[in-house]
Amino acid sequence: MISGLDGVVAAETILSDVDGQAGRLIIRGHSLDDLVTHSTYEDVLALLWEGLFKDSPSATDMLALLGQARQTVFVHLNAADTQLLGQPTLDAVRALVARLPDGDDVDSALQLVAAPAVFTPGILRLQNGLAPIQPSAKLNNAADMLHMLHGELPTSEQSASLDRYLVTASDHGLNASTFAARVVASTRAGLASATLAAMSALKGPLHGGAPGPVLDTLDSIGNAEDAIEWLEDALNRGERLMGFGHRIYRVRDPRADAIKQAIQHLADVGQVDPKRLQLAEAVETAALELLARKKPDRPLQTNLEFYTALLLEALGFPREAFTCVFAAGRAGGWIAHAREQTLNGRLIRPQSRYVGPKPRPQSPSEGSYVPVASNASASGSRSSVRSSGIPER
Ligand code: ACO
Repeated sequence: MISGLDGVVAAETILSDVDGQAGRLIIRGHSLDDLVTHSTYEDVLALLWEGLFKDSPSATDMLALLGQARQTVFVHLNAADTQLLGQPTLDAVRALVARLPDGDDVDSALQLVAAPAVFTPGILRLQNGLAPIQPSAKLNNAADMLHMLHGELPTSEQSASLDRYLVTASDHGLNASTFAARVVASTRAGLASATLAAMSALKGPLHGGAPGPVLDTLDSIGNAEDAIEWLEDALNRGERLMGFGHRIYRVRDPRADAIKQAIQHLADVGQVDPKRLQLAEAVETAALELLARKKPDRPLQTNLEFYTALLLEALGFPREAFTCVFAAGRAGGWIAHAREQTLNGRLIRPQSRYVGPKPRPQSPSEGSYVPVASNASASGSRSSVRSSGIPER
């Protein structure tokens, strides 16, 4: 058995390739460096979905279609009652995504990409006693997310940096959430089901839940001079340093640099707290030095999540919503993979190796198995229980 399916190839894809030795990400034949420089999130969405729907939108049409989809899903914020708003932001967003049609056409797909972009700012505002802001189909997805969060138009630097983040997060090989999406799609369930499974996998701190804890680390360290001691204590307690390490990359995650550049652009126009950036850089240097010393056999480098935390904080997202913003970018990739799986793949059904106890040989005195169900039906209960006391599944 291969622990964590490490190195196992479980799908063939034309969508993206992660080269962990060279530190390179390719999305449908384009390098990440090229995409973040020349393409918007809408362009990348059109690229990812090309040929996967009978009417896949062109890059030119995508801006308007995604804008219309944001306006379509906005109505679901009416269902955000007190109970839903009391949940963590990702759980509340996921609950609203579950209201969307479970189709496999391009309209369903557009709504699923629009959903986290609209529900995240809407829920955050409702949680703060503010009315949600109507989406604007004239803006691109990134600018509209910031507009719906703050109630005013973002600066061009702010929307460009969020757009760069969405492009960077859009697809990344067979990561845990994308695999979850493909497993669900392989059963021929709809795109909403695949997206919900993916969002649930993304939530964990070992995957898309890391950037919030990155800020907790920075807050807890407080001063650059205290970084080494704080991080060493954490490692000595057996904790993982959030924002470092990756299953595939043995060198620096190229997405970390793409996001660092976005922060630098914001910093250049005074839209990032310079002290916060200096602290993060000092913590990164200290963490890399310690990880190299303490885990010499495992090259552990900065991953996407470290500078994502700083970027989303500078853009005004609260840390509990960071994973939802990740979902707003990755949704495009999840849907592309789900469609690719449905069109070309088989049911994903691996095997497990049983290592539990064997059944005890039965002695004649133990008698034969008597289903308790017959007693249960006499007492009016419909549940079926084995004589061992283990409920039947
Ligand atoms: N801090 C300290 N040690 C680490 C870290 C880390 N961030 N990451 C891995 N290690 C160590 C492990 O403790 C282990 O050491 P050991 O062999 O002495 O026990 C060794 O490296 C290998 O760890 P694995 O868990 O086998 O590595 P895996 O490939 O499964 O881990 C993961 C990848 C989950 C991302 C891991 O590096 C981690 O937990 N990082 C912190 C959380 C994080 O930043 N997640 C975001 C990932 S990026 C993304 O999903 C978008």
